[in-house]
Amino acid sequence: MAVSKAVQGLLDEYKRFSSKSMIDLFNNDSNRAKKYTIEFNDLVFDYSKNRFDEKVLDALFELAKEHNLKERIEDMFEGKKINVTENRAVLHTALRNFSGKPVFVDGKDVMVDITRVLEQMETFVKAVHSGSFRGATGKKLKNIVNIGIGGSDLGPYMVTSALKKYWIDGIDCFFISNIDGTACAEVLNKVDAEETLFIVASKTFTTIETLTNARTCREWLVKKLGEDAVKNHFVALSTNAKAVQEFGIDTKNMFEFWDFVGGRYSLWSAIGLSIALAVGFDNFKELLKGAEAMDNHFRNADFRENIPVIQALLGIWYNDYYNIHRYAVIPYDQYLKHLPAYLQQLDMESNGKSVRLDNKKITDYATGPALFGGAGTDVQHSFFQLLHQGTEPVPVDFIIPANSQNETGKHHLILLANILAQAEALMKGKTVEEVEAELRAQGKDEATIEKLKLNKSFEGNRPSNMFIIKKLTPFALGMMIAMYEHKVYTQGVIWEIDSFDQWGVELGKQLALKILPELEGGQRQTHDCSTEALIEKISSMRG
Ligand code: F6P
Repeated sequence: MAVSKAVQGLLDEYKRFSSKSMIDLFNNDSNRAKKYTIEFNDLVFDYSKNRFDEKVLDALFELAKEHNLKERIEDMFEGKKINVTENRAVLHTALRNFSGKPVFVDGKDVMVDITRVLEQMETFVKAVHSGSFRGATGKKLKNIVNIGIGGSDLGPYMVTSALKKYWIDGIDCFFISNIDGTACAEVLNKVDAEETLFIVASKTFTTIETLTNARTCREWLVKKLGEDAVKNHFVALSTNAKAVQEFGIDTKNMFEFWDFVGGRYSLWSAIGLSIALAVGFDNFKELLKGAEAMDNHFRNADFRENIPVIQALLGIWYNDYYNIHRYAVIPYDQYLKHLPAYLQQLDMESNGKSVRLDNKKITDYATGPALFGGAGTDVQHSFFQLLHQGTEPVPVDFIIPANSQNETGKHHLILLANILAQAEALMKGKTVEEVEAELRAQGKDEATIEKLKLNKSFEGNRPSNMFIIKKLTPFALGMMIAMYEHKVYTQGVIWEIDSFDQWGVELGKQLALKILPELEGGQRQTHDCSTEALIEKISSMRG
């Protein structure tokens, strides 16, 4: 099949370059680390431990040019309807636009509504904290329970966890997402109704998990405090005022957002209310400001200095040319332990697509890689074995703040030493000859050396990015989240897919709606024989 000029350029580069080792690149260029490190607002991005040289990078920038990346970035910021299958603009960037400049969609400046809701959030957050908005029995609201799923849960959950150090005194936060009744039960067991604010977060307000959980919480509250208490204890975050009203929440208690905010891009909108309640409105604003700084960087920085663009292009290089279809994100920070789960939705729901923007099925290249991760050093003791010695390399994003929020003895220095050591080990590896020499120096006999030398060697040449922030502040966190958002968009542009729809989640939802009545004892429907047998088995097991 004919390929474009830029793709051919990269195929040629792959042929020329792929057998080169990073360690040689470092040995031949003492300036490599400096050359391939970008610093931006106390964020250091060292991408030198990746498998590329200047010519590869040039070829990747050619690819970006061939896909009109610069113009496509502008399209997003300018509110063009780049979510083509849903015919929507994509303007999470407008939610953190403090420039004073208008942003238009269909001739309307969306900043007017955005500013209004932000003010509404500020007023409400301050009222809850000061106690001017109280529970039905007059007690201050101190338990915040966010009921949502996907983008209406993962972002707020990750951010509130990450910013635990900034929580307002006396406030506690809980998250109910799973339809599994245990999620609800566990939270309701912990909170006192009189002091609890439920936030029903759902863009569509039709999501079965969220509405079922919200109904259960509502019934629980009404049983304890009566119907009238709902107005003091329930607020809604949604684009769907009608459904909010039907559910029984007064639209006075609703915080609106809009179709141009995708679920997984929504933590900057009213969906961030739980964040603002946890850390205070000023810190929420700092989070937005960090994201805005990254937006400006993404929009204006030359691609050679552009963190999300370089991050994305290196990902493309591995995915499309090395055929590595996975990557790991490892934050070395306990507060960031939920970041990989959040990024899974951001990346995999955005770029797990197989139809192009021109409506053609993708048959000759792979799109979004699978993402996994967890907090270091914990995961060094689980899946790092595979990272070091598995048969396929896994590119890694390492993330760490230079300063801990809880400096305790040598903990943070040990953490820092570990992250640096892991990246170095992945890159350098350890040759069979080095292992032999080491074992010989330990006095091992030749038979033992022969038996162990392959097992104890590391082929190395395994790529990683290193992100260092000065401290995990709301601003720094905002920058990093926005960085990943823009990385995901850049890759979507190169793969020519719509990164902002999610049709792939629909089929399972439809089938669950068909199966539910069957499990409730209703008429059996036709399925494949495995599903039919399983329905039968479960029904008999449940008696
Ligand atoms: O899983 C599909 C999805 O639509 C996500 O994109 C979204 O974040 C989540 O469900 C929740 O949707 P809503 O906010 O409308 O309840």
